[in-house]
Formats: sequence, C-alpha cells, structure tokens
Amino acid sequence: MRMAVFGTGYLGATHAASMAELGHEVLGIDVDEAKIARLAKGEVPFFEPGLPEILRRHVDSGLLRFTTDYSEAAEFADLFFIGVGTPQRKGDFAADTTYVEAVVTELAPRLTRSAVIVGKSTVPVGTAQRLQEAADRLTPEGVRLEVVWNPEFLREGYAVKDTLEPDRVVVGVANPDAEPTFGRERLLEAYEPILSAGLTDEQREAGETATPLIITDLATAELVKVSANAFLATKISFINAVSEVCEAAGADVTVLADAIGMDKRIGRRFLGAGLGFGGGCLPKDIRAFMARAGELGADQALTFLREVDAINMRRREKMVQLAVDTMGGSLIGSSVAVLGAAFKPDSDDVRDSPALNIAGMLSLKGAQAVVFDPQALENSRRLYPTLGYADSALGACEGADLVIIATEWKEFVALDPREVAAVARGRIVLDGRNCLPRERWEDAGFEYRALGRGR
Ligand code: UGA
Repeated sequence: MRMAVFGTGYLGATHAASMAELGHEVLGIDVDEAKIARLAKGEVPFFEPGLPEILRRHVDSGLLRFTTDYSEAAEFADLFFIGVGTPQRKGDFAADTTYVEAVVTELAPRLTRSAVIVGKSTVPVGTAQRLQEAADRLTPEGVRLEVVWNPEFLREGYAVKDTLEPDRVVVGVANPDAEPTFGRERLLEAYEPILSAGLTDEQREAGETATPLIITDLATAELVKVSANAFLATKISFINAVSEVCEAAGADVTVLADAIGMDKRIGRRFLGAGLGFGGGCLPKDIRAFMARAGELGADQALTFLREVDAINMRRREKMVQLAVDTMGGSLIGSSVAVLGAAFKPDSDDVRDSPALNIAGMLSLKGAQAVVFDPQALENSRRLYPTLGYADSALGACEGADLVIIATEWKEFVALDPREVAAVARGRIVLDGRNCLPRERWEDAGFEYRALGRGR
C-alpha cells in the first residue's frame, strides 16, 4: 500500500520505517528540512536502537522516501498517518495541538481523491472529531477525508519492536457499530501483516487476530492513550511516595517493590523507585489530561494527577538534598559526577530529564557537576551549555567527591567500582535509579546511598 507519515520524530520516523518493513511504500513528511535531508540519506537524527538498520534498508530499497512537500504527499497516498508532536502549551498545562491541526488544514485542500487520516499523536479527547469537522470543511467537492484514531504505545528505546509487535492495536472510528468504513478497512489492511502474523488460513477466515484488536469510538481511542500514560505515571509515583515513607521508617523500597510486585494484580514493572519519570510523554500527558478533564467539567476526576506530578518532581529535589547531606551540608566547591543525562537508558532524549535537571540544580548549589551519557551528550550540551561534560564515565568521575547514577544505562550498572575509586576523590555513590549492585560498591569502599533505602 502507499501511505504517508506526517512528522519524523521518534514516533513518525519509526512508524514510517516500520511500515516500509511491512512492505508498504511510504513517504515521510516533515517541515524540518534539515531533518528530512538526513533521513533521505538514510540517517536517523536521534538515537533509537534498531531504527537505523531498517531505515537504511528501505531508503535503499526505495520503499521509503522523505519530503517536505505536502502536494507530493497528497498525490502519493490515500492513507495519511499523523505522528507530529503535541507538546505542553506555553503557559498552561494543556496540549498544543497546532501541529496536528496544521496537517489537516494543509492536506485536505490538496486532495484529489478520498483518503484517510490516521491520528497516532497523543491528543486531548475530542481532537479527532474536531479534525473531522475541519476536514469536511476543507476538502474539495466530492472528496471525503475520513479521520480515524490509532494511538501509539511505543516506548523510546524499543520503538521498532513496539511498532512491529504491539501489545494491542486500538482503532477509533466515528461509528464502530456501523459497517466498516473505507478508513477502517484501509487501516486494517495496512496492519494486516501484524494482525495476522502466524495465523492459519482458518483462523484468519474466522476473523481471529494475532495481536488483540480493539475497535472503538474516537473519544475512547483518544482516551486509551492518555489513560495508559497516566496509569504508568501513577504507578511510578506510587512507589516513589512509598519510597519517602521507607526513608522515614528505615525500610527498603526495592525489597518492598519486589514483594508487592509478585502479586500478579500489581506486577513489578514500573515500580522502579528512584528519580522518577521524565521525557516527552508522561509529564506533559498527565498535565494535558488534567487540563482536558477540567475543560470537560470533570475537574475533580483527575486532581490526584497533580499529586502524581508533585511526588515526581519532588524526587529531583530530594536527590539534590541527599547530595547536600552526604557532603556535610554544602555543595560549594565540590565536584559531582552525574552519570546519565537521557531521561531513560537507550535514548538520547533529554526532554524533561530528571538526570539533567539534577545536574543543573547541583550546579546552582555551587557544585561543579560533570555529566556523562553514552548517547545524550550532544542534546545535553545544547540544553545546558554551562554544565561540565566528560567523554566517558570514568572521565566524569575523575576528582569527583560524589558520584550520582542518574540514568540506569547498562554500562553504569556494570562499572567496576574499583576503577571509579582509582580516579575519584571521594567515596560516596548516590544510586538515583536503585540499579547498582550495592555490595560491590560497598566492598570497593564506597558509602552507598539511595532514595527509599533507609537501611
Ligand atoms: C511512554 C510509555 O511507556 C509508552 O507506552 C508511550 O507510548 C510513550 O510514553 C508515549 O506516550 O509516546 P517513554 O516516554 O518512551 O514511553 O518512556 P517510559 O519507558 O514509559 O519511561 C518514562 C519515564 O519513567 C522514564 O524517565 C523512566 O526512567 C521512568 N520510570 C520508568 C521510572 O522512574 N520507574 C519505572 O519503574 C519505570
């Protein structure tokens, strides 16, 4: 099939390359000419494991092309995915849907035949319906542009796998109980290789799918996505709130998380206590969800997310406070190695990164913070040009009074504490992600401290 993907960030570029991997002809579109030029050469402008390989393969095979030209896109495809960003609006909590709207207002008048818009961006509930109204207004006479919603659940670091082997496929349409529309059929046709992977002919004929498929209305599909992210954020903040109690009571939050996580109803994943969540999704999504609930008159429903947000932001301050305490009450003149800058491992994304945030706060408190990250140094330098940077973990630890693990990259977990001891000035390690082998560090002479580990 021929399709186009608007937006070539983590979501759009991954989706475009993955659709080509499924055998479709794909055109990626972005307003950023520099980004498009790099992608067209087969280069991924950010770090995402596995993506460079499939992108290059399909740029070379000719299945995947990139352009900044909307008219070319309108001519090329009849299935248009929206994967542009919906950042937090400046000055308030709501999501900025300008880029999503721009796709429809630019594309609709250029269409010469009926087509489908598939929204994948995370949007406030009601957006799809609004886009449908805009599409109805803007398409030429006799042309129908149908809006369907298909939220994306990919995680950075696993984006390709999550796209090609999703847990579930959710499709929102205007009327889920009616006969399938053109839009619904075209989308399911595009996902056919995913939906029927490994099925026998009989299973296929019986309407079974290899990946669970949920067809619902537009509003539910939009809400599924923000609810999923709000739940994940709540789970992380729950364990971080319990972590505060553990500190006060002299208990160990990691053992507690293991124990409650064994209950299948709870599950251990996303109970990783530490510096909390950051990135381009969870923080802004819970805020946008609250803002939208307020607009809909359901103000009280999500006020707990304010607390989820507050618990999360408090982690960063608490980490800095722990650093101050371990240094005897002041950081002035001290040297602190901050290992990690990305908001999570296997990513170079520093948007709302707890790691970089604490590096900035340490520096404000008079410490000389030296940051190292295996992938996010370039992005970090751009955002925080005044921090110190090193080009290796041990380089950052050179002369450090204090070592902080702020992102749980595998190479930090595997660090040999004796090598760190050989270059550092002090013998204190703060494990911001509860990821280090504690005994190993203690055996090497380090004082080991972490949030939520009262003992
Ligand atoms: C998140 C969701 O997990 C995806 O399902 C969703 O598609 C995506 O947002 C999105 O909306 O696009 P992502 O932002 O890539 O994905 O990262 P996560 O793996 O969810 O981690 C988010 C943050 O939570 C990270 O800063 C991570 O360090 C932190 N975290 C995660 C914890 O502090 N503790 C945990 O136990 C797990």
